[in-house]
Amino acid sequence: ETDEDLEIRPPVVTVMGHVDHGKTALLDAIRNAKVAEGEAGGITQHIGAYQIITEHEGIDRALTFIDTPGHEAFTAMRARGAQVTDIAILVVAADDGIMPQTIEALNHAQAANVPIVVAVNKIDKPGANPQKVRQQLTEFGLVAEEYGGDVMFVDVSAKNKTGIKEILDAVLLVADAGLDMRSNPNKDARGVAIEARLDKGRGAVATVLIQSGTLHVGDSIVAGTAYGRVRAMADENGVAVLAATPSRAVQVQGLSSVPRAGDTFLVIEEDRTARQIAEKREAAERNALLAKARKRISLEDFT
Ligand code: GTP
Ligand code: NA
Ligand code: MG
Repeated sequence: ETDEDLEIRPPVVTVMGHVDHGKTALLDAIRNAKVAEGEAGGITQHIGAYQIITEHEGIDRALTFIDTPGHEAFTAMRARGAQVTDIAILVVAADDGIMPQTIEALNHAQAANVPIVVAVNKIDKPGANPQKVRQQLTEFGLVAEEYGGDVMFVDVSAKNKTGIKEILDAVLLVADAGLDMRSNPNKDARGVAIEARLDKGRGAVATVLIQSGTLHVGDSIVAGTAYGRVRAMADENGVAVLAATPSRAVQVQGLSSVPRAGDTFLVIEEDRTARQIAEKREAAERNALLAKARKRISLEDFT
């Protein structure tokens, strides 16, 4: 693989922050959709992944967004060693200010070396104090540009859809300034499962983020201890997709079981080999669990 094989891929942006500070509402405003209203109890239960196109400095640019329920999914993925995000948008409600999960989210992003753009949300609310949010975050190492730091803060109202273009521009400025967004689309796909579930009719359905290569319908893949041939793929709107390129998130059908968030996947030439790898991993996991259980039992016997 040489430099010539590499092509620019869209940045992958994770939206993080304290519960109810408006992550999903901000993504809705970005997508012009209404996901937040349809959620049970207004709480995000799963990770949504969406790609949008926006005009930036006169050029149409694609961005992939990952919505997270609190920061749990991000934590789970990091625990499995998966680095899925290029940039984090830290959403802080201007009326609430920083809260425990704000700090946890920024700690995760900083530990993973992911640049942060701060969206100071709900500036339409009577009690909003966006300057206070800037002051509060200074103590945690996020110093706004207007205070002599290098972090971009953008005041937004997901409700009134203000500041949306500005936050997208900020994200693309950060991406263009310091990140290597190149990857080779012309090889077998690799990536990460970001969410998965068992669907009554369709079996295991996994949302996977492609990190390099191109995933095709018919490819044989291994994801954690799940394996199978990609029977069908769909985008975030349920539209069928035949091939998915780097930074695309697609729903995949055809896996033998449900992978976990953060499991990496890769294409394997032979169906049989895919199955063998998955079974080996499963056996290894089973043995590790057994060993742990035995250790516990023997300790209980002697203490
Ligand atoms: P979780 O997924 O549960 O962590 O929440 P979230 O961060 O995704 O927040 P969500 O988008 O569900 O918004 C929480 C509440 O804040 C909802 O009632 C939204 O309507 C409201 N909200 C979000 N953004 C704004 C805003 O800009 N202004 C006002 N006034 N309300 C907002
Ligand atoms: Na919510
Ligand atoms: Mg949400």
